[in-house]
Amino acid sequence: MSFPGGFLWGAGTSAYQIEGHHGRGESVWDEFCRRPGAIEGGGDGSRACDSFLRWREDVELIKDLGLGAYRFSTGWSRVMPDGRRADPKALDHYERFVDALLEAGVEPVLTLNHWDMPAGLSWARRSTVEAFRVYAEAVAGRLADRVAWWITQNEPWIIALLGYQLGLHAPGVADLGTAVKAGHHVLLGHGAAADVLRAYSGAKAGCALSLFPCDPATDSEADWAAAAGSDGYVNRWYLDPLLGDGYPADMREHWERALGHSLDFIRDGDEAAIGGRSDFLGINYYTRRVMAAAPPNPFPWRVVGPSGDVARTDEGWEINADALRDLLIGLSRRFPGTPLMITENGGVFGDAPTHDGLVHDNRRIAYLRDHVEAVRAALAAGADVRGYLHWSLMDNFEWALGYRPRFGLVHVDYATGVRTIKDSGRYYAQLIAGGGTAP
Ligand code: NOJ
Repeated sequence: MSFPGGFLWGAGTSAYQIEGHHGRGESVWDEFCRRPGAIEGGGDGSRACDSFLRWREDVELIKDLGLGAYRFSTGWSRVMPDGRRADPKALDHYERFVDALLEAGVEPVLTLNHWDMPAGLSWARRSTVEAFRVYAEAVAGRLADRVAWWITQNEPWIIALLGYQLGLHAPGVADLGTAVKAGHHVLLGHGAAADVLRAYSGAKAGCALSLFPCDPATDSEADWAAAAGSDGYVNRWYLDPLLGDGYPADMREHWERALGHSLDFIRDGDEAAIGGRSDFLGINYYTRRVMAAAPPNPFPWRVVGPSGDVARTDEGWEINADALRDLLIGLSRRFPGTPLMITENGGVFGDAPTHDGLVHDNRRIAYLRDHVEAVRAALAAGADVRGYLHWSLMDNFEWALGYRPRFGLVHVDYATGVRTIKDSGRYYAQLIAGGGTAP
């Protein structure tokens, strides 16, 4: 089976991970990176891939790879340096960039919040929803006439988990109740931004969720319940309200039990302001979770795998393309009428340039081939998948893990900024030219 006409083949990045500072406002990530020990290797996003200066070179790479789409984010702290007022010069920059993509025949996929919020804002506070709406208005006012695909929020669960529950990402808060509240405000932010975007004809708004299929470790009833609970915590808590079903009752009860109080920050009308505002669903898929029952406190489940001898990336994440196929099929059955877009999928493979100056990252080629086949199988089974955006166009700043993990189709030498297309990038170019099939 071939891929449908108009299927978007692309790759993604985000502002903080590639741009470098270059005159933007202070972001919560600048603050977080200064905390001793917060970032592996002690790095930060002050230089990254210098894409703010080298963006023309990035567009050339996108053209060389033959990408039909490119996902990037507008830096929230660049557009709104003080968190409240837009800087027209920053919008000029993104306008030039989008125009260069369009001129090259590349469909821009624009993310509004890829985590680099201006310092002083926090999802723990409801007022941040309004700040986000104002930001969305500023960017949409400039670009909604020429950008069709918009991603409001990137990975609400990861924002809540790493930013507010575990304190491993900015802003470094470690409090479960704050995390649940912050996650709700992130979803409200989606609703507010989607309302702004959908007022422009031709603009499609979606949220990118990190979705992790959850499987039981054994066939025991307790482990099945653990898998269902984990699915509620990681996936359904975000999917259901976004796609109009409201927060799932089992998880609401779970949170009330775990926190010892009602979720009064979810006000009347909030679920209606979140749901029914997604023109598509963005899916970031990397790996799955294998779950076993555990004593409550705060969760009656724990992650026990995938364990054993399974294929893994250099970061240890299981490689499982079948789980992507099943995820896509399951979502299309559960939410018929909602188009799906793979907004991220990729792996850490640390291959460096060899004596010939080339990067022979054969494992990324195999990863790419298998996941594209999984998408093809899902399409054949009736799933409405509109695009596949590999993570990432180029190696970049991997948040708390610093510059060690390399996700790119393009290698970046951080000392010089030099970009080198990896073998996987060349393979992807062939695959795209072949409409989803490489020779
Ligand atoms: C999640 C995030 O959206 C992205 O910023 C990150 O680099 C990748 N996935 C890989 O972890």
